[in-house]
Amino acid sequence: MGKDVIIACDFPSAEQTLEFLDKFEGNKPFVKIGMELFYAEGPEIVRQIKSRGHKIFLDLKLHDIPNTVKKSMAVLSSLDVDICNLHAAGTCNMMKAALEGLTREDGTRPLLIAVTQLTSTDSESLKNDLLIDEPMDKVVMHYALNAKNSGLDGVVCSPLEAKKVHETCGKEFLTVTPGVRFADGEIGDQKRVMTPAQAKEEGSDYIVVGRPITAAPDPVAAYERCVREFVD
Ligand code: C5P
Repeated sequence: MGKDVIIACDFPSAEQTLEFLDKFEGNKPFVKIGMELFYAEGPEIVRQIKSRGHKIFLDLKLHDIPNTVKKSMAVLSSLDVDICNLHAAGTCNMMKAALEGLTREDGTRPLLIAVTQLTSTDSESLKNDLLIDEPMDKVVMHYALNAKNSGLDGVVCSPLEAKKVHETCGKEFLTVTPGVRFADGEIGDQKRVMTPAQAKEEGSDYIVVGRPITAAPDPVAAYERCVREFVD
């Protein structure tokens, strides 16, 4: 899979999600389904969006004991999604078990990427809440390397980290980056943002874009602008 724009479909219901996707008509953007929509609608929403021809990043960020994650990943794999994820903090054993669970009988599997540290975790909470004294940057790169050494395909990270992740883990290791805003757009609650063009410069493989598209007056035009800036 080449560079692409993934739309974060952070809607509370299937109805609102499908109404949003209807606007795209012949176009079939890559979509991200997160916890809110999945917990509201269950696996059926994945099947519905898949049957409309979209690629799906199922963003459920699993983190549990290896056996539980392995079995849960097998269920997600049967939904035929394109990308799944988990928390690298679950350890290398958990990540390896996840890959085993994800791999189908014919050897195929969805891509598996890891969350290193959430962008909502700052240096202060890393130190005070998690008792991790190393600098954030070092922790993120260490977790990314753990993911790579466990056989995963990439990480979710800030576009500001994409270049360093590629330097640390290799060019082929995927960087999927949220925190993207248009130069003339609202930042909202995101703190460290980049434009689609800057994310491309930094070497992001996929950008995940939510509100700049979903809340735009013309979502299709906003999506096309992202594609123009990031892919073309
Ligand atoms: O609306 P916005 O473009 O901020 O949406 C970004 C999406 O990426 C949301 O679904 C958010 O949960 C997700 N995300 C993020 N930062 C992370 C991981 C995921 O913004 N570190």
